[in-house]
Amino acid sequence: MDKDIITRSGSLTESRRRFLEKSGVSLVLATFGAAFFTACSSTEDADPTGPPTPPGNSSSGITISGSVIVINLAIQTALNNSGNWLLIENAKALVANVNGSFVALTSVCTHSGCDRNWTFAASRFTCTCHGSVFDASGRVVQGPANQPLTQFTTQVSGTTLTINK
Ligand code: FES
Repeated sequence: MDKDIITRSGSLTESRRRFLEKSGVSLVLATFGAAFFTACSSTEDADPTGPPTPPGNSSSGITISGSVIVINLAIQTALNNSGNWLLIENAKALVANVNGSFVALTSVCTHSGCDRNWTFAASRFTCTCHGSVFDASGRVVQGPANQPLTQFTTQVSGTTLTINK
C-alpha cells in the first residue's frame, strides 16, 4: 500500500548538493525518480508551505499498513545518515536518524494540530506553524506546545525499519 506516499526529508550533504548541481534536476528525476530528489531536499532548502512532492510510488521504499510503517532503508535512503529525517505525511509520522538510531514521532503537533510543517536540526523538531520545538523523544523544548509528541516504537532488522504507531 505504498501508493501515493508523500514524504519530505532533510539534510542534504555537500556531495549530494554538488552532484545535483552537476547533474541537473531533470537528469536526477529521470534517473532516480522523484523519491530520490525528495530525499535530497534539505531542511534549509525545504519550503514548508509549498506543495509536497510525492516520490515515485514504486521507489519510495515505504509501505503503510494500518498502524505499521515499513521502510526499506536500502531504497529510501533519506534516513541513511545521522541528522537525516523524513516526514511521511500519509502516516502522519516524523522519522529521524539520531546518531545511528531511529526515532519516530507523530507529526501532529500538540499545539494546534499542524502535521506537515516541520524542520529538524540538532536533534530537535520544530513545528513552523507557531514555533514549538521538541527533542528527538518528543518532549517539549519550547512552546507554545505544552504536551509532548507521541513517540512510536521503531525496530530495525537488516535494512528494514519497522515503525509501530
Ligand atoms: S501547531 Fe505546532 S506550534 Fe502551533
